[in-house]
Amino acid sequence: MSLIEQIDLAKVPNHIAVIMDGNGRWAKKRGLLRVLGHEKGAKAVQETIEAAGKTGVGYLTLYAFSTENWNRPKSEVDKLMNLLVSSLKKEFKTLHKNGIQLNVIGNIEDLPSKAQKELQEVIEKTKNNNKLTLTLALSYGSRDEIVKTVREIAHKVKNNIISLENIDDSIINEHLYTQNLPDVDLLIRTSGEQRISNFLLWQIAYAELYFTDILWPDFKKEDLYKAILNYQNRERRFGKTSEQLK
Ligand code: FPP
Repeated sequence: MSLIEQIDLAKVPNHIAVIMDGNGRWAKKRGLLRVLGHEKGAKAVQETIEAAGKTGVGYLTLYAFSTENWNRPKSEVDKLMNLLVSSLKKEFKTLHKNGIQLNVIGNIEDLPSKAQKELQEVIEKTKNNNKLTLTLALSYGSRDEIVKTVREIAHKVKNNIISLENIDDSIINEHLYTQNLPDVDLLIRTSGEQRISNFLLWQIAYAELYFTDILWPDFKKEDLYKAILNYQNRERRFGKTSEQLK
């Protein structure tokens, strides 16, 4: 039986988030420039979106550029931004045809204007699609997001829009960049590193974590299927006992 046939389609994680790591090491191993690792990484993005679509995942969130990534050499940052724009231009038709809705989280106003414009266009054109929500985390940092959220809520309390007693999980959720997304069910990180790196700290409270040694540019559909199969063999207790779940 192929890997996809082994997946229980009724128990697919609704929201998968991915820390796509290892582009630089993939290139270095081959004596290539880092940017070529990112180019191959963009192909792995396509492959992963397709695989998510085939299994019926509802939400796929990709960590494409962190707030800390701005500290990389300018040439690499420029390449990543250009790759974002060219990938959106190239893949827009396929995304749309497959019912994919594009969404972004992060400080989008930090991005070059041509990237902002391209993103806004694709977001607008795909806003009625409902098969899969693809969220790109761009200039995203989870602490940054939490600080922004606290400030907004504090401002509303100060202006009597929210009362202190009413602050709860859902109020916080409503102020995060991810306000329209469900909690993450499965978080994947490639390249052998076992860290969260400031990604969706609030949203992964009960996520299953899956680490693989595969470098992101080598990540294939089958690798997503393996991660989903691994997830399906776990017992998610949400603080309860095994017996209570039966
Ligand atoms: C981490 O690898 C990857 C990134 C910082 C960028 C992710 C970007 C892509 C996958 C390509 C384009 C994306 C889109 C959405 C079109 P690294 O450079 O940190 O690798 P290293 O740890 O081996 O140096």
